[in-house]
Amino acid sequence: MTERMSQPCSCIAGRAFLQCCGKSAADRDVYRLLLCLGNDASRPFYNRWTRHRELVRELVDRAAAGTRRGRCLVLGAGNGNDIPLGHLADTFTELTLFDLDETALAAGAGRLTAPQKAGVRLLAGDLAGLAASGAAETIVHLARHSRWPDLARYLLTLRRKAGLLPPPELGRGYDLVVSVCVATQLFVPFIGAVAAHSPIRDRIHAAAADVTRALSNRLGEIMHRSVAPAGAVAFATDILEWNAARLSSSGVPAPLAPDSEKIDPTAVEELLRVHSHLRNAGAVPENLTRLFTPVHAMDWVWAFSDRKQYVVRGFVLHPR
Ligand SMILES: C[S@@+](CC[C@H](N)C(=O)[O-])C[C@H]1O[C@@H](n2cnc3c(N)ncnc32)[C@H](O)[C@@H]1O
Repeated sequence: MTERMSQPCSCIAGRAFLQCCGKSAADRDVYRLLLCLGNDASRPFYNRWTRHRELVRELVDRAAAGTRRGRCLVLGAGNGNDIPLGHLADTFTELTLFDLDETALAAGAGRLTAPQKAGVRLLAGDLAGLAASGAAETIVHLARHSRWPDLARYLLTLRRKAGLLPPPELGRGYDLVVSVCVATQLFVPFIGAVAAHSPIRDRIHAAAADVTRALSNRLGEIMHRSVAPAGAVAFATDILEWNAARLSSSGVPAPLAPDSEKIDPTAVEELLRVHSHLRNAGAVPENLTRLFTPVHAMDWVWAFSDRKQYVVRGFVLHPR
């Protein structure tokens, strides 16, 4: 997970991503590279995220109550640091882990026992469709040549096209689909990294927020087409980000909670009211209530790192 639109490269060098870790990558590889670097950075966080993972497990169990225990699909499984993979493997006959980052998937599955691994399938692909369609490559090309107004115009066309990009091959009829803090990661970290040094960042940011919303709706469609009619989705999403950059604070802001903990929805509403700019674009797909009967199950603080926390909202979704 990355900080926000204008951040420098996520390594400690402090330069823009395309002049730093992304410098020698081919245009078509940059989108994937950025996700992989993020997962590389958070790979050691398995123990740090134990409490968060327990809260995700509670959401998963609520969603799985009443469903068959046949097939489960995890979208954006990554390192599996925030997903109770062992519990899912014990509960379901078949567990499919999907992500663009194959190394992270292998690392997550590597923590499972031999019997748990027996039903696990690792599947690499692009939920956003940006890599497969060439859209990410075009964006990187325009950014590398500092063609910022062209990039802003391109994002306006992408906003309309995002829903039409070919969906990944995932199969259908899953009894449980799990998606944890993926919706906000499909576009914002990428455009934030490649356009960090743009002089028209605000214009690009505004167009990017629309693309993010369109891709979030696309995730809603993907969840809907993958889940069985009598199945359910455990959908958790980071609705608010709490860190120094977002709060325009020079020091480290006081954490919302010392570790990942449940938070009362009224406290969340108050946070969103006072700090509306901390709200994450695209966190909750706008098509959710059209596609599903959503039950807002629980909210919690995700103590991501010493410097960053998120408020996560968990839903149990039943397809309409
Ligand atoms: C917040 S992370 C989730 C953390 C992850 N479960 C873990 O424990 O490492 C979001 C995950 O979504 C994946 N992701 C983001 N965009 C994707 C895309 N377009 N296609 C597939 N996976 C994507 C990232 O690679 C990452 O693993």
